[in-house]
Amino acid sequence: MNYINMLSKLGMGSAHPGGFEATLRLFRNEPIAPNSRILEVGCGTGRTACYLTEIGYNVTAIDLHENMLKKAQVRAEAMGLNINFLKADVCALPFEDEQFDLVIAESVTVFTNASESLSEYCRVLAKGGTLYDRELLLDKPMPSDHKKELENFFGIPRLMDREEWHTRLIESGFSHEEALEYNHFTDQMKQEQTRHVDTLERRDEGALLDMNLWETLFQHDKMILNNADFLASALFKAIK
Ligand SMILES: C[S@@+](CC[C@H](N)C(=O)[O-])C[C@H]1O[C@@H](n2cnc3c(N)ncnc32)[C@H](O)[C@@H]1O
Repeated sequence: MNYINMLSKLGMGSAHPGGFEATLRLFRNEPIAPNSRILEVGCGTGRTACYLTEIGYNVTAIDLHENMLKKAQVRAEAMGLNINFLKADVCALPFEDEQFDLVIAESVTVFTNASESLSEYCRVLAKGGTLYDRELLLDKPMPSDHKKELENFFGIPRLMDREEWHTRLIESGFSHEEALEYNHFTDQMKQEQTRHVDTLERRDEGALLDMNLWETLFQHDKMILNNADFLASALFKAIK
């Protein structure tokens, strides 16, 4: 079972470094202007989109994975929210140019061809618009066989370091980029990940009886633990 399918079967919300705590910290530190047109890409089970809608923003959210979108819809309904969840590929966004003031990605771009996805985020942003993108990255050079194994497991085309992220963001049309956060994999980060229990997490029926799912979960933990020294996560802010 691949990593994204595992996440979707478990119905996990906030499946990104730092979890929901990191999402809350982002919007606390970078308040969103009222009436901003927000696009969340790779919304997964919709926890961030639902949160932003609940506090009064208008959010369009996309993902490519049917099961993720189904769970995002169930979450929104349980919260009494009306959100436009669409099936779409971040590398070919179904929107006209300059439609949004804000694009939010939480552990998404890393799974795609970053030149394509970042160019698409930039294209749909209005001039002066902002991308917030929290992603896994390479902190220091890693033995190439380990790197390949990790990329294959997660379905990451190319795990980039800080410098490569800078290059990709600028080449994709952003005029400025900075890392608002740069975090190593510490125990504190692991605690943060599970601080806010997701009461609307919906597992597929029988998911926990599937040995393939457990195998993928186990592989995931092993992969992160064994490579923690080489990995980091960053929150990029890029302005068009
Ligand atoms: C690790 S999950 C993170 C989900 C969500 N952002 C969160 O933080 O819980 C990655 C998500 O990106 C989506 N994704 C990956 N590649 C995509 C693509 N090319 N287009 C749209 N969504 C994609 C996956 O389906 C999945 O929901």
